[in-house]
Amino acid sequence: MHWNTLATALALSASGADALLRFSCSQLVVERLDPLVNPGMAPSPHLHQIVGGNAFNISMDPTTPPPSLATCTTCTFAEDFSNYWTAVLFFRAKNGSYHRVPQKPNVGFEAATGGMTIYYIPYVGNTKQTVTAFQPGFRMLVGQQGYRTKAEASKFRQLTYTCLKDPMTRSGETMDFPTAPCKAGIMTNVRFPTCWDGKNLDSPDHMSHVVYPTSGTFENGGPCPATHPVKIPQLFYEVIWDTTKFNDKALWPTTGQPFVWSQGDETGFGNHGDYVFGWKDNALQKAMDSNCADCPQLKSQTISTGNKCTRKEQVTESFDGWLEKMPGGVMAGMGNMKRKD
Ligand SMILES: *[C@@H]1O[C@H](CO)[C@@H](O)[C@H](O)[C@H]1NC(C)=O
Ligand SMILES: *[C@@H]1O[C@H](CO)[C@@H](O)[C@H](O)[C@H]1NC(C)=O
Repeated sequence: MHWNTLATALALSASGADALLRFSCSQLVVERLDPLVNPGMAPSPHLHQIVGGNAFNISMDPTTPPPSLATCTTCTFAEDFSNYWTAVLFFRAKNGSYHRVPQKPNVGFEAATGGMTIYYIPYVGNTKQTVTAFQPGFRMLVGQQGYRTKAEASKFRQLTYTCLKDPMTRSGETMDFPTAPCKAGIMTNVRFPTCWDGKNLDSPDHMSHVVYPTSGTFENGGPCPATHPVKIPQLFYEVIWDTTKFNDKALWPTTGQPFVWSQGDETGFGNHGDYVFGWKDNALQKAMDSNCADCPQLKSQTISTGNKCTRKEQVTESFDGWLEKMPGGVMAGMGNMKRKD
């Protein structure tokens, strides 16, 4: 299998990268939990889809990192017990009913049960920079579930959507939801900031301990500010939503595009992703230092082994079929935070 070539080709078309760790993490569980933003709250306000290690829980104590608790992971790098999650996409039909949009595997990972593609990028092109891997207990959030305008969402760089004309489409990213049907689905792209303050594993808003480069981007070697001097890997999620069975415009509301995030966002500007670091020992640092793609020095498992790792729902509620409201009673248009910052 020319995995390496494929990964490189995809990354090239995605961002101009030529060095990266790209791998599949199958679905672990879909439920209303958010141990980062709403620890201890079961159910949390909106639905998430989660991949990674099976230590995912209602609360996740940063002093007991996932590798010490997890017994399996849905990711193909078997030493990665991190958890990665996003909101869940719903379709809202003309009559106002909602239907969950299924996820589908990415190119090269067709055997996966949905889930996500995860990237950790150490550097790009000829920019020979070194990155410091995340430390045990590290976690972060990017995006703001309550944002509904481009002006708000512009605070974040590179939280985007790709309207897939075919599974290989990697151009034409937008900050809001695509406005016309996408033949091969909608891909959400979640890229995290890449500069860390070097001290705090988390912060009250789960964001202020990390920032973007002061100028340019991670890809072109943009420098980190003095307040956040430590360059961390570019963490990047791709999630593919199989919107194809909702492409008949006769079913669409007359008000516009029909997709809505589980927190009630019908604009797309509320795109957000959460991360709880959970690599075993220094496996991630090793991979970043050697700039490997298939990384034979890391322990791997097949996608089908990853598919077998699941976590029993702790919040049991049904969200299959047509619904009057999304889980938590959320409806399109709700949840606009109107933040003051
Ligand atoms: C989840 O948390 C509960 C306590 O809230 C604990 O009893 C349980 O062992 C945890 N499960 C895992 C897999 O860590
Ligand atoms: C709303 O529309 C969908 C799609 O046509 C249909 O399957 C569903 O049954 C409808 N729901 C109600 C409550 O009529």
